[in-house]
Amino acid sequence: MPEQFGHFINGASVAPSSGEYFTSTNPATLEPLYEAARGNAADVESAAQAAQAAFENPAWRNLSATKRGHLLRRLGDLVGENAEELARLESLDNGKLLREMRGQLASVPEYYYYYAGLADKVQGSQIPANSPLILNYTQREALGVVGAITPWNSPLTLTTSKLAPALAAGNTLVIKPSEYTSRTVLRLAELATEAGFPDGVINVVTGFGAEAGAALVEHPAIAKISFTGSTATGSSIAASAAARFIGCTLELGGKSPNIVFGDANVSNAAMGVVAGIFAAAGQTCIAGSRVFAHRSVYDELLEKVAQRAQSIVIGDPLDEATELGPLAFAAQHQKVSSYVDLGLSEGANLVTGGGRPPVDLPGYFYEPTVLTDVDNSMRVVREEIFGPVAAIMPFDTEDEVLALANDTNYGLAAGVWTNNLARAHRMASRLEAGTIWVNTYRAMSPMSPRQGFKSSGVGIEHGLESMNEYTRLKSVWINTDEGPVSDPFVMRG
Ligand code: NAI
Ligand code: MG
Repeated sequence: MPEQFGHFINGASVAPSSGEYFTSTNPATLEPLYEAARGNAADVESAAQAAQAAFENPAWRNLSATKRGHLLRRLGDLVGENAEELARLESLDNGKLLREMRGQLASVPEYYYYYAGLADKVQGSQIPANSPLILNYTQREALGVVGAITPWNSPLTLTTSKLAPALAAGNTLVIKPSEYTSRTVLRLAELATEAGFPDGVINVVTGFGAEAGAALVEHPAIAKISFTGSTATGSSIAASAAARFIGCTLELGGKSPNIVFGDANVSNAAMGVVAGIFAAAGQTCIAGSRVFAHRSVYDELLEKVAQRAQSIVIGDPLDEATELGPLAFAAQHQKVSSYVDLGLSEGANLVTGGGRPPVDLPGYFYEPTVLTDVDNSMRVVREEIFGPVAAIMPFDTEDEVLALANDTNYGLAAGVWTNNLARAHRMASRLEAGTIWVNTYRAMSPMSPRQGFKSSGVGIEHGLESMNEYTRLKSVWINTDEGPVSDPFVMRG
């Protein structure tokens, strides 16, 4: 019988109120891994109460900003010390390469260190106001209990993007991890307790979106929702948050263009295209799924990308040599494969891939796939597939490719490959996306803010700016004039 995990509420593992658990599966082997508590509104209620009590508890509320920074630094250390265990647990759960997870685990502590350094820099300012007898100052305050809802593709990293700034600002949290990957977020909460965060500051309710997730979004104690996941779910969360006038930060889907000009280093660009769409089996929000190649280099680029796609080593994500693991779960495999079928029925040409590779594991493997003869009218070019499927299209002019690249509902990221400096800057300024990479792709840092334009999101993650997402601004007016109030009907500071 697989190991069972409860919710993590008020510093301890808590059995689900319903008594029900659900199984998480290894997507490479299809073996059951563990059972997680199936959370419902009653579990969310307990977690929200614990988080609210922790927010009001002087042990957290009166802790100095410097000490909050110390706790974050200690958590970063503990994540680093347990990196190998966390990397393996996540790789088993969602099929990410162990190699890639080790890389992620090298950077996750840096997020805690970065926000540890910002904890004591959350500050307001003094405003001149109307009269020298008035002291007007602003202060930034924690919001209260933040609800964080996270996906399965990079659970530790994407949870950290919310957890670290929210804690640095003095909030408490209830986290609802994806039902496909509960394990590492539960382990992270244990490490936070070990680091010295008071009980109730970080709570985790596991379970399904429609049950635990929706209950969290609707809970009256939640002061803000921070969500990463699909655009459809983000839209329903935003509507629910709007009805209660609470804020939300949404990091949603993408259909990012990766644009290769005729003056680019085509070999590097081809590797950038491969990195953009085949790394992590294309299961990333920033996947460069629409590739535009200038007609002068189109054939060369296509050949290089197709060749590399065909030589990608597919197999067990725990194996050092593997370059592509399985998709994370059955519905994801079904979705990717039906999109490719749809593309072919819409008239696309299959250059390579398009099926299950010959792997001697029973999991949800899908070949790296390249489609040509596609255009912006087709669903495979308009909709997020979230798998290893590249659509490659030729273009002739800069204006043409800008119009094509921007003709999308999404605006998360864009890649540009060129050795023309002026063109690089022109493209960076005119592309409608929150992150632009020139002669690189998939670069990310806690220091660099990112924001989804259009249907790719609301609000900012990472960087200094993300602290504002987890604080509210208060303006305080102090009248130092003790003389009589001359006219109570015209009171203006
Ligand atoms: P999803 O958006 O449904 O799930 C993300 C998180 O939201 C999970 O924790 C889920 O339990 C929760 N959730 C779902 N419905 C909810 C609701 N009504 N209220 C509150 N929480 C809710 O995405 P899912 O099902 O994991 O993946 C489906 C598709 O979404 C993928 O195929 C992919 O296209 C896209 N996706 C995009 C991501 C990105 O980073 N842009 C990340 C994950 C998924
Ligand atoms: Mg799993």
